[in-house]
Amino acid sequence: MHRRILAPGALAAASLLLAVPASAASRSPGAPGIGDPYYPYYGNGGYDVSHYDLRLQYQPRTDALEGTATISARTTQDLSGFDLDFLLDVSEVRVNGARAAFTASGEHELVVTPKAPLAAGTPITVVVRYSGVPSTKSAYGFTTWHRTPDGAVAADEPEAAWWWFPSNDHPSDKATYDVSVAVPDGTRAISNGTLQSTSSKLGWTRYTWRQNKPQATYLATLALGRFDLTTSTSEGGVPVVNAYSEDLGDDEGAARASLERTGEIVDWLSGYFGPYPFASAGGYVPNTTTGYALETQTRVFYSPKQFANGSNTSVVVHELAHQWYGDDVSLKGWKDIWLNEGFARYAQWLWSEHEGEGTAQELADYVYASHPADDPFWTVAPGDPGPDHQFDTPVYDRGALAVQALRNEIGDDAFFALLKGWPKEHAYGNASVADFQRYAEQVSGTPLAALFDTWLFRPSKPAAPAARAASVAQPAAPGTAVAQPRSWKGIEATNGVHGR
Ligand code: TRP
Ligand code: ZN
Repeated sequence: MHRRILAPGALAAASLLLAVPASAASRSPGAPGIGDPYYPYYGNGGYDVSHYDLRLQYQPRTDALEGTATISARTTQDLSGFDLDFLLDVSEVRVNGARAAFTASGEHELVVTPKAPLAAGTPITVVVRYSGVPSTKSAYGFTTWHRTPDGAVAADEPEAAWWWFPSNDHPSDKATYDVSVAVPDGTRAISNGTLQSTSSKLGWTRYTWRQNKPQATYLATLALGRFDLTTSTSEGGVPVVNAYSEDLGDDEGAARASLERTGEIVDWLSGYFGPYPFASAGGYVPNTTTGYALETQTRVFYSPKQFANGSNTSVVVHELAHQWYGDDVSLKGWKDIWLNEGFARYAQWLWSEHEGEGTAQELADYVYASHPADDPFWTVAPGDPGPDHQFDTPVYDRGALAVQALRNEIGDDAFFALLKGWPKEHAYGNASVADFQRYAEQVSGTPLAALFDTWLFRPSKPAAPAARAASVAQPAAPGTAVAQPRSWKGIEATNGVHGR
């Protein structure tokens, strides 16, 4: 379903550049893509970012954004130059203090050529001064900068950064962030992490946010507008900051009734996944017409639509589950999306069970029974769905079904040890589906190649009914439809990604 169109031959070009050995690559530019076969031009080669410092100013009336990005990185090869991914208008680039040449290239590349070549393995500081009206910029024919009546929001997947800061835009290069944005008094800036300071002068208020744990570029978010903030601390000690647009209308009550349970849900998820990995939790609901939610790190993005039918704790569970599965442990490549969505959906099933609205097994049986063998649902392999099917229903539902099948194969003791052990094993890092299979085999002492192949990779409906637990009390009589749990509709609708 995705919107981007890849240039023909893009994949070959990118992998060709990446295949050049380091020695031969000296005095050559870093690759324009990091080597992800789904998105050949996303991210860049030749350096690794450790920190983004963004000092910005935004005028909601005109959608004008300007400021300076200071990027701390380290070269990973000898470089004559390197790319950043960015769409706004650049006025100056400095590398280690000296002015560098720069030019826009391709759909979203900013090509930087420093005065002198850079040696492999050295720290570099890149300063980019820029300005622009993000809503007027597009790449591959789309924009992910969403205007609201009172400002704008940057929250999208797999790309959102190009519209507001220059980056190495791929989840495999995580970094810490300081995001400081001045807005006219009365407007607020919301971003990830903790609010370090608020200060006002000359009619402008500056909000400074800090993300002190590694964060993928697509998980960085910025919202500008009129917001009401709430702060609290969970029973388990996690600070919670939520923000609500002042113009949510009839959805406001249900939005608050959902997000204000963030602390309770974070503590509940900690019971399954281990300690909450970040210094702050929470979310925000801007006045936007989008229909989806996104697991932006520590500060989840929600759309008002998700609360149009009353409270929706299931979407809160989904996005908070991503804080462990997706944000703390991020995917190595976009093909590994099952590690995000399969587990976030499975957390919703566990929550359903907790709320007495159907057990995980019942929901698995329901998904299995609702899709006949000839349903195209089974042709999507959640373990490698391809860029056009990356966020399709099967990645979520067949993905969660795979998790239930794994649980039934290895038993609850190993399964819950695995759920909790995985975020610890790869804390603040990156991992692949193959890494997960290896780890699951290690924790359970069970060979799992056949199970993973059946549930994640085959383009067909597995023969065995959702690998039912041996202990299930009342198997449905043959030919009997499995009853639809009451919660089902709520779960189907929650993250709303299919409604965009
Ligand atoms: N990861 C999001 C979720 O499951 C869904 C999503 C996929 C999304 N693509 C997106 C959200 C693009 C926003 C924009 O919660
Ligand atoms: Zn999700």
